[in-house]
Amino acid sequence: MKLLVITLFLVTIIIKSSECTQNWFPRNLVQTIANETSLVKNYVKEKGRSLRQFYNNVQDKITSYFGSSNRTEEIMHGEGREERIKRKFKEYIEDAQEKENVIFDSIAPKKSHYNCSDDDPAIRMTTPQLIALHGYVSESHTITTDDGYILTLHRIPNAKNIGAQPPRKTALLHHGLLGSSADWVIPGPGKGLAYILSDAGYDVWLANVRGNTYSRAHISKNPDSFAFWNFTFHDVSQHDLPAVIDYIMEKKGWDVKINYIGHSMGTTVLFALLSTKTQYNKVLRAGYALAPVAYMTHIQSPIRLLAKFSDNIAYLMTLLGANEFLPHNAVLRWLSKHACEINHYEEVICENSLFVLCGHDEKQFNRTLLPILLGHVPAGASTRTLIHYAQEVRNGGRFQQFDYGPEGNYKMYGTPLPPEYPVHKITLPIALISSENDWLASDVDVSNLYARLANPLEHYIVPLKEFNHIDFLWAKDAPRLVYHKLLQLLEDGASKTYTDLESNDIS
Ligand SMILES: *[C@@H]1O[C@H](CO)[C@@H](O)[C@H](O)[C@H]1NC(C)=O
Ligand SMILES: *[C@@H]1O[C@H](CO)[C@@H](O)[C@H](O)[C@H]1NC(C)=O
Ligand SMILES: *[C@@H]1O[C@H](CO)[C@@H](O)[C@H](O)[C@H]1NC(C)=O
Ligand SMILES: *[C@@H]1O[C@H](CO)[C@@H](O)[C@H](O)[C@H]1NC(C)=O
Ligand SMILES: *[C@@H]1O[C@H](CO)[C@@H](O)[C@H](O)[C@H]1NC(C)=O
Repeated sequence: MKLLVITLFLVTIIIKSSECTQNWFPRNLVQTIANETSLVKNYVKEKGRSLRQFYNNVQDKITSYFGSSNRTEEIMHGEGREERIKRKFKEYIEDAQEKENVIFDSIAPKKSHYNCSDDDPAIRMTTPQLIALHGYVSESHTITTDDGYILTLHRIPNAKNIGAQPPRKTALLHHGLLGSSADWVIPGPGKGLAYILSDAGYDVWLANVRGNTYSRAHISKNPDSFAFWNFTFHDVSQHDLPAVIDYIMEKKGWDVKINYIGHSMGTTVLFALLSTKTQYNKVLRAGYALAPVAYMTHIQSPIRLLAKFSDNIAYLMTLLGANEFLPHNAVLRWLSKHACEINHYEEVICENSLFVLCGHDEKQFNRTLLPILLGHVPAGASTRTLIHYAQEVRNGGRFQQFDYGPEGNYKMYGTPLPPEYPVHKITLPIALISSENDWLASDVDVSNLYARLANPLEHYIVPLKEFNHIDFLWAKDAPRLVYHKLLQLLEDGASKTYTDLESNDIS
């Protein structure tokens, strides 16, 4: 402890006396150190693990200030007073560095090591296995899209331990970025939305987007190839979603009225579908968008850090890996600094791309679920999907198709800019459910979207300030704060929908 204080104090003095005008050393810290030891302690606690990085920076600066280590030889010969001070200081730094671990372990907040015991068999269970574990019966359906992707659709046809029942209402649940059908069942009966809907009389279908754990196959493309991962949410909206909806209609009859419930990217693909293939506005009964993502002017997610590179697709592809957006690469760690060093989440959370990109809310987070969550997310997403989102951020939040650059856009779309999704063509009744602390779906953007919907049902804001993007799936209070309202909206939607559809006969 003392050593650290002395070190930092010396750094302070040296910096103050030098002509160093760089802003790398926080001024307020200078005062704090000169002031009270306890304040240093608090500072360290507050900064957590990032202080180690800070310390390395200090060392680098000092090293460059004094020149390379080989100058010690020179100094050993004719060493003046100034040199001696500098050498002494260098020795302090080296000594401190040697004892670095001791220093940090004694004052930095203890990293709570999460016991990731592999004991819980649920960690490795598939969605159907989880559903069986929870006492429900499930079905798996395989669908091939018109561009050859082989998708798995999961289904919970009936409520718990009950056989065939009278006709049930239909709900299609679509997970978000990096998610899968497991997202809806992980919290278990009474808590997971899939079960809540099932118990409320719905025939629940759970989609899986191309490329995720359950849809990682193609009739001709190898999932290890770029050709397989060469897609964005646009392709999902044009091929996966129609295939899934058509399939459900085929199974249940053409007059089935599907309630679409999407989370995050699951809402993006709905908006993209309804604005481009407008016939689906007639097919679905209503849309319910949890944490809706379309316009992205005010996002807080580290995706925005990628935005400034997003006009250089080749570079981003190199940076992120051209195919699947893989969770354990250096870039993710770079992105995670944004979330984790500020909030000092524990490592297991910081190493997971879903939490990094979408945030984490300590209070609403049910720690019991963590091992199972880590076993199921991220379930897979293409790098191009991330780039597509990053492009929107850079282009003033425009909800638009993939940007290939001016030349590429001419080839693809015949215009220098990618076409915006014509949101005004969405005539399906849609309810938006958002929260204030959502890193991906800000108030401003969701309100902007709501204002453009032809048949808005309601914009419901979750009455809890801290509620964030992934809380819609797994928060302790999600049933009370979100699902209760959602069920109400689903009921209300019924009477409203049909009249709306008839009076707004646009296609
Ligand atoms: C010590 O720090 C506190 C708050 O940072 C400040 O108000 C106070 O003036 C400081 N005292 C001295 C002697 O610098
Ligand atoms: C310092 O000098 C030694 C030999 O005296 C050499 O091996 C080493 O690479 C030098 N280091 C630097 C940073 O120049
Ligand atoms: C983690 O596991 C070890 C040994 O299995 C046990 O001693 C320790 O108390 C556990 N820690 C927590 C926080 O559960
Ligand atoms: C990737 O997709 C774009 C358009 O979607 C297409 O022009 C390009 O040829 C594809 N590249 C590969 C390698 O499949
Ligand atoms: C947390 O998750 C566990 C396992 O699903 C569940 O038994 C428990 O009730 C949950 N706690 C809260 C507060 O939701």
